[in-house]
Amino acid sequence: MLERKRIRLRVNGREVEDEVEVRTTLADWLREGLGLTGTHLGCEHGVCGACTVLVDGQAVRSCLMLAVQADGTEVRTVEGLAGPEGQLHPVQQAFLEHHALQCGFCTPGFLMTAVAFLGENPEPDEASIREAFSGNICRCTGYQPIVEAVADAAGRLRRAPAGGAGPAR
Ligand code: FES
Ligand code: FES
Repeated sequence: MLERKRIRLRVNGREVEDEVEVRTTLADWLREGLGLTGTHLGCEHGVCGACTVLVDGQAVRSCLMLAVQADGTEVRTVEGLAGPEGQLHPVQQAFLEHHALQCGFCTPGFLMTAVAFLGENPEPDEASIREAFSGNICRCTGYQPIVEAVADAAGRLRRAPAGGAGPAR
């Protein structure tokens, strides 16, 4: 019989409790258990970065983490970036304006990686941006617009009023 375990955590600010098979990945649980299909699955081997989410503020590959390992944590997915009125997060707005996506398959992973990276590196140079995203694969954009969007997003976040209205962080 498949072993199951009860987990309780916060996902995008909401308290969630569920019983999951212990072998279920965090990615599968988010997508199939909670319907949060913005977290994409590409390689399922930890290589492409499409499944990146934040766990307690750290960017993690949700295809490599089990849902039971997220018990007691705070998880944020791409669905948790926009504000309550649907206003885009500064990182999303920068990606939009710099045309940093085409098919969009990789985009949730880039966005979540960007939020974690910029939280720790508010004034990154181009080399550090390229290094931070070396584990995220995009088949479409050629990366240059993504690098420009992340640099622009850094400036937007620095200018965003702390604790002000909108999804600054
Ligand atoms: S699907 Fe997780 S890293 Fe590719
Ligand atoms: S926009 Fe298509 S894979 Fe990145």
